[in-house]
Amino acid sequence: MPGFEIFGDEERRQVQDVLDTGVLFRYGFEGARKGHWKAKTFEQELSHRLGVSCCHLCASGTAALSIALAACGVGAGDEVIVPPFTFVATVESVLLAGAVPVFGEIDETLCLAADGLADKVTERTRAVLPVHMCGAMARIDAIAEFCRANDLLLIEDACQSLGATYRGKAAGTFGQMGCFSFDPVKTITCGEGGAVVSDDERLYRAADAFADHGHDHIGSDRGKEGHAILGTNFRISELNAAVGLAQLRKLDKILDIQRRHRDRIKAAMADLDGLRFRKIPDEAGDSATFLSFLLPGEAQARQAARALNDAGADGCFYWYDNNWHYFRRWDHLKGLCCAAPLPAARYGQCPDYGAVELPRSDAVMARTVSMQIKLGWAEAELDQRAETVKRVLTQVLG
Ligand SMILES: Cc1ncc(COP(=O)(O)O)c(C=O)c1O
Repeated sequence: MPGFEIFGDEERRQVQDVLDTGVLFRYGFEGARKGHWKAKTFEQELSHRLGVSCCHLCASGTAALSIALAACGVGAGDEVIVPPFTFVATVESVLLAGAVPVFGEIDETLCLAADGLADKVTERTRAVLPVHMCGAMARIDAIAEFCRANDLLLIEDACQSLGATYRGKAAGTFGQMGCFSFDPVKTITCGEGGAVVSDDERLYRAADAFADHGHDHIGSDRGKEGHAILGTNFRISELNAAVGLAQLRKLDKILDIQRRHRDRIKAAMADLDGLRFRKIPDEAGDSATFLSFLLPGEAQARQAARALNDAGADGCFYWYDNNWHYFRRWDHLKGLCCAAPLPAARYGQCPDYGAVELPRSDAVMARTVSMQIKLGWAEAELDQRAETVKRVLTQVLG
């Protein structure tokens, strides 16, 4: 995902502001910082953009997930329903919170399926954590309704889907908290960074404190601040926030280009017999970082990804064989391989992940290919790519 493709003077100027003041810390130093509050400004602008009242900018998307779980009170003894198609960070954050990830199935949205959630609920279930994968959203209205009806927390992992919406409402704003990543390969980047957003001031306060050793951030003397809770350091630096601020202001431009490029490639694939596009509950809200499609069978999908890359249409991913985005190849999770004993494993609460079967998800992922959409494609490159995609897929489907 492409924020890094369009670095320019805007990022340089923002970073220079910070270097000129010498204040790299996001809190305090009011006099020295000469009015430059990069993290705070980012938080205000992202809240406004997403239509939420609160945002906390932090060190990474992974940190955002840990912060959200902690702020929502999810921890030891709790179960959290997660999808098997995500980045493993979603699952790690649940385990490291002391809770137990329980895998739901995905559907052709490539996200957690709303139907079937009921089968995964036990008396320990505390939260549902859907992941809006590859730039587009889950059936979030149905998932939110399920959570409301079953008194479960809804925490959205929108790390890959900044700019995606469902009926005009932003990804990450449907539940108690939403999480974003601004790592080097996300729609916009801070270098490393993440954010939690919420409309609940109480959860925001807990998040803001947890991410900075429990500091309540009241007053202007850090040494005198109160600490209602224990926390950790998931802070972002002003340098990273400065890069992100310049990038955030380019988000509309990024989305416009992505959507135009996606449309061009998609049009070239429109008449291919046997090919289906990923289901997107609200097409208008697709952020279009990827164009994902399903082939009739596993062999064809594997062949399509290989043939597209070989023919020069690079950035085509076959996730089913990939060992960092899909459950099937997470051998380290299946073996619960960890640097230190996990609380849930220590107390025998984890299922045998090696024995977990997800036939519905396998059936979708085995047939799915996702093509990365880049910002930098020139018109001629785009034409060439559209022609290559059509030719290669016609052969594969032939
Ligand atoms: C779905 C998802 N969740 C969480 C993360 C973690 O974000 P970060 O790399 O900023 O820690 C990622 C990053 O790739 C992701 O794709």
